[in-house]
Amino acid sequence: MKETSKSRRTFLLSGLLSSLTAFGAMMLYPVWRFIMPPKVPESTQNSVKAAKVNELEPNSGKVFPFGSKPAILIRLGNGEYRAFTAVCTHLQCTVQYRKDFKLIWCACHNGRFDMNGNVVSGPPPLPLEPFEVAISGSDIIVSKRA
Ligand code: FES
Repeated sequence: MKETSKSRRTFLLSGLLSSLTAFGAMMLYPVWRFIMPPKVPESTQNSVKAAKVNELEPNSGKVFPFGSKPAILIRLGNGEYRAFTAVCTHLQCTVQYRKDFKLIWCACHNGRFDMNGNVVSGPPPLPLEPFEVAISGSDIIVSKRA
């Protein structure tokens, strides 16, 4: 009788311990994944089709994905295209083109860049990285500079 009670107690304890271990792992796994996000390899993409030739009106811009980061294509009032990274050099917010200012603008802290990517005002410490723009048929291709 005592042997049966002891083996039953051992069985219940091992079941309880297994359940607690599984529950603990289930609770800690998402926390661990949040703290240690998977390594995403830096994009090796060097050029991307950013837009169609007639997609942008003069004095307008478009943010598009360039690998894992945003980039911005701007069509100036004279029809010329410019492209830059759209990642602000201050705290990495995504910039946008402001047709009223005719500048690239960062909404986070009012950072402003000219059409060469240089800082005009605000806290950004560095200019935006410029990209090459080429037209291939009906596509506008944006490439990293060599
Ligand atoms: S993140 Fe762009 S100005 Fe601060």
